[in-house]
Amino acid sequence: MKIDGRAFRSIWLDETDHWSVRIIDQTKLPWTFDIARLSNADHVAHAIRAMQVRGAPLIGATAAYGVALAMRADPSNDSLTQVIAQLAATRPTAINLRWALERMEQSLRTHPPAERADIAYQAAAAICDEDVATNRAIGTHGLSLIEARARSGRRVNLLTHCNAGWIATVDWGTALAPIYRAHDAGIDVHVYVDETRPRNQGASLTAWELGKHGVPHTVIVDNAGGHLMQRGAIDMVIVGTDRVTRTGDVANKIGTYLKALAARDNGIPFYVALPSSTIDWRIADGLSDIPIEERAASEVTTITGRALDGSIATVRIVPKDSDAVNPAFDVTPARLVSGLITELGICAASEPALAALFPQAREPMAA
Ligand code: MRU
Repeated sequence: MKIDGRAFRSIWLDETDHWSVRIIDQTKLPWTFDIARLSNADHVAHAIRAMQVRGAPLIGATAAYGVALAMRADPSNDSLTQVIAQLAATRPTAINLRWALERMEQSLRTHPPAERADIAYQAAAAICDEDVATNRAIGTHGLSLIEARARSGRRVNLLTHCNAGWIATVDWGTALAPIYRAHDAGIDVHVYVDETRPRNQGASLTAWELGKHGVPHTVIVDNAGGHLMQRGAIDMVIVGTDRVTRTGDVANKIGTYLKALAARDNGIPFYVALPSSTIDWRIADGLSDIPIEERAASEVTTITGRALDGSIATVRIVPKDSDAVNPAFDVTPARLVSGLITELGICAASEPALAALFPQAREPMAA
């Protein structure tokens, strides 16, 4: 996607040294466009944990480059085992992390150490290139849904939660890919953006990237979506996901479930966009089998923004003696999902439909 006319991916190799890794530091957006340099696996682990990079597909792509950086420094078996364990422990919910690490390990383990650095860089680059193509295909399939709505001649109003845009992936995004495609095709789309407390990925990241691309959008507080649905202001919900069970249950940013409930009550289609790398074929029950990341209470008790004097400030918004709890994701049961938008097409959120769309993927991965 373009930022002020210049094309960017969300992760790339340094143009000068060709081995260190560049990322857009998402903790600084929308205030500062800061490019960070990652030159070892510890930097990568920190970037994922601190959410300088975030979003399931981008977490996977970044971890892949973390393995490459580790192989460049020390290609031994011990080093490979250690970096896989280190990076796997950074964030628990997004399955793309495990998917990317398993793929890297499979590519590397049988090769002699002397060959591993080159192979790891190639494998990480392939994961990134595939992510771009995959998300573009998600955009193509999702576009058909928006086109169908647009036939009424009215503006299509969408609602999205958190950030599942191009900076949550290598490019294009998942939930936002169909919206970018529709906007680029001249369809009149408008996006209601949930602010997405506690870290405000909607207000700070989705609004930023939609704005850079010129897509009309309006930020709303997380609690406004149901009301807007009751008033007929929303035609369709599209969200991303961090892990989908083989039965179609969907883990996504905390608050997604409530939007799915409100959408169902108001007869509004609720779609989930995902690359197949987000499907966890090993599990069937989202509520019991998906680990939900618990993040620091300080993300709830404080809020960060630009003060009126222009400085970036973090302020406490909760009495100093009150406790807070911060589950980062929730699970939307498959029955509330109108459809899954994948790179191979749109299917029902159900085990038979997923298995029919991805016949090969299912067999080797199933436990
Ligand atoms: O905690 P995050 O910001 O990494 O969570 C990411 C999300 O929940 C996403 O916005 C998303 O829908 C999945 S990634 C495309």
